[in-house]
Parts: sequence; structure tokens; C-alpha cells
Amino acid sequence: MAHEVTSTGPVNIAVIKYWGKRDTELILPTNSSISITLSQDQLRSKTTIRASPNFTKTRLWLNGVEELNLDNNVRLQNCLRATMKLRKEYEDQLSDEIGIDNVQPISSYKLHICSENNFPTAAGLASSASGFACLVYTLSQLYELPISTTELSKIARQGSGSACRSLFGGFVNWQMGTKQDGSDSQALQIAPHDHWPELEALICVVSDAKKGTSSTEGMQNTVKTSTLLQHRINNVVPERMKLMIDAINRKDFNKFAELTMKDSNQFHACCLDTFPPIFYLNDVSRAIIRVITEYNNTTGKPDEFKAAYTFDAGPNAVIYALKQNIPEIINLISKYFPPSQNNVTYFSNPYNLFSNEKENIGKLSLPNNFNENIIPVFPDGSVKQILHARIGNGPKIDHDSLLNPNGYPIN
Ligand code: DP6
Repeated sequence: MAHEVTSTGPVNIAVIKYWGKRDTELILPTNSSISITLSQDQLRSKTTIRASPNFTKTRLWLNGVEELNLDNNVRLQNCLRATMKLRKEYEDQLSDEIGIDNVQPISSYKLHICSENNFPTAAGLASSASGFACLVYTLSQLYELPISTTELSKIARQGSGSACRSLFGGFVNWQMGTKQDGSDSQALQIAPHDHWPELEALICVVSDAKKGTSSTEGMQNTVKTSTLLQHRINNVVPERMKLMIDAINRKDFNKFAELTMKDSNQFHACCLDTFPPIFYLNDVSRAIIRVITEYNNTTGKPDEFKAAYTFDAGPNAVIYALKQNIPEIINLISKYFPPSQNNVTYFSNPYNLFSNEKENIGKLSLPNNFNENIIPVFPDGSVKQILHARIGNGPKIDHDSLLNPNGYPIN
């Protein structure tokens, strides 16, 4: 008999960045990190896995295209092997308890895996975190594995480091661990998704024609060549981890924002300190930093903030802010980075912030004391899209299969 499970998994955006591995095979990081899991309303991966005694080989379709040479995909194989091993142990244990004839030997079945992201194609957002978290979660459900989410995070970590954090909702700590076998390099939840409901995120999708350096490749060049990274690992992140956990627990937006921006800045400084240097930010990214900095200046106090920017291994900006400031920030971004003509997907207004978004967005007056000349208005389409996300839950079961009755992708 065939077994099948479908589930969805979220994106997470780090506020203390992971950058650097001490073991590239097991994916063990050189520092701990903290992230926030975004709601799956606008951004999610979805995966269906079917196990059947009739399948002759394990196959994977990603966004409608079959991935060939699965045997060479070490990260995928590591996740499959680890979950299958646990399933086999579970089957052996069940056989002892209820008799071998009553246990389905699913661990020996081949799999058909179909996965897709609902991210806007233009977004160019990293999908490895949500993708691998979703894959490993779906496997754990398919195999009915009796293990905790933290145990599961150690398997997802071997697919992509940041994926271990997407197994939890809310605020997540990936403890780097110190053991060589990686058994203590795991994700833990700091606080659930509804701990700080006022905190929200805006993702500004920035145009980028160039294909950048992948995080996997980039971070190891940083480990090899950057002395600043050593300083960051040894002297900066340990203290920042404590301060960030404390700021999240106390819901202290000012401290949270300061640490988030400083940590993004230092991560990109380490990229510049890599030899040869890596550039992820472009002119639009840097202009967004200036707009947010000027917006924060309007508080009149150096340690009071209304928004925090952070950037991963690409030019897209993620802005964390409290709910009440979100419309003002969308207005600012759309004033300085207006949509291209007839762009209907610029801002989809998912939480009904604006009654008539076409008329209102980018047309509200600037905040008091905001220096209008801080940057010029950029050409239309410099920001392609603004996505709005609340803080969300970890992976969850979905009932809408991506495979047809014969075990092939529906789309
Ligand atoms: C800049 O998790 O994509 O987004 O472990 O090699 O798959 P691999 O790298 P990945 O790196 C993410 C780096 C980052 C920062 C972060 O998410 O913490």
C-alpha cells in the first residue's frame, strides 16, 4: 500500500546571521544564529512525498522540473538516509511489539517527492531553508517518527544550515554546538509565533540581473580569508546572542532593531573583508538603508528606532517593524522606489492596510522631520515588489497533494 503526506514549510529571516561552517559535510556553523519564522500566507514551500512498493527508484520534482542525478545530491541523500534509518529502527521496535506482519516496511520503499514554492518568481528569494525544512518535516510525518522538533532540526540542518530554524515557528535559536558529530548543533524555539504579535516584516524585492555568489560557496571563502569573521565569531556573536534573546523575551523593539541592523552590517562587512570580496548589497539596497536610517532619525533619539533592516546573501531588504509603523514604511519605500508602470503585483495588501492601495501607496505625506533629500527617487521598478508578512508557525500538514494517482506531478 502506498503512503503519502503533503505539508508546507515557512521561510525564516535571521536577525543574528549564520555565516561560516566548521564542518561542510555535516553543516556545522562557526557561530550560533537567531531567526524569525515568517507566516506562510505569502511565502512557503510545499512538498508531497509518496512511498510505494511499486516505485522502482526515488525521484524528485522541484518547481515542476525533475531533478536528475539524485545520487550525487549529498545534502538530499543525507536527509533521506537519516530519516529512513530512524524509520527502520521504529519498524524494528514495532515488530517486536505487535509482530512483523502488522508493520508496513515503508523504510524500504522508494519515494516520489514533489516540491514547489509559492514565492513570486520575480522574488529571487532563497528557498533552501523552507524547502529542506518542509522536506524533512514531510518525511518525519510520512515515517511517523517519534522524535522531537529539535532532533528533527539536526537532520534539516544537513540539507541547508538555515533550514534547521524553519522547523519552528516564532523566534528561533540555532545553537552552534561544539561536538564534532554535530549532535549538539540544533534549533530551539525562543518564543512562539504569537509572543510578539505587533512585530511584522516587509520584504523589498530588489531587481538584480547578476547571478550572485551562493551562500554555500561565499561563506567558506569568508572562513578561509576574513580576519574580521574570526573577530565576529569569537568576540561579537556570543554576547549579541544573549542580548538578542533578552530583547525578544522583553519585546524591546529598540534593542532588537539596533542588534538586527548591526548584525546585518557586520555580516556584509565580513563579505567585503573576504578576499576577493563578495558584494551582495547593490545601490538600491544601500539606498534602502539610508531611507530607514533617516526614518529612524525622526525619533530624535539615537537609541530609539521605528524600523530595522536586514539583508541576506542578495540585494533584497527585509524590514522588521511594529505594526503601527508598517503603512508609513510602505509609503516611504514606494515613494523612493516606485513601481514600474502597470505593475499590479507591487504590493498585494494582504492584510488590508490600505483601503485603496493604488491611490494611497506612495502618496501619504512624509513623516515629520524626515529629510526628503536624503536620496533621489529611484527609477521605476528598482524595487519590484513589497511583500508583507506576519510572524508565523513552523511546517504544517496540508491536504492538497501535488502528485496524481499514478505518483507524478499534477502540474
Ligand atoms: C545569509 O543556509 O543558505 O541567509 O548551509 O550552505 O545551505 P547552507 O547556507 P544557507 O545560508 C544562509 C545564510 C544567510 C544568513 C542566515 O540565514 O542566517
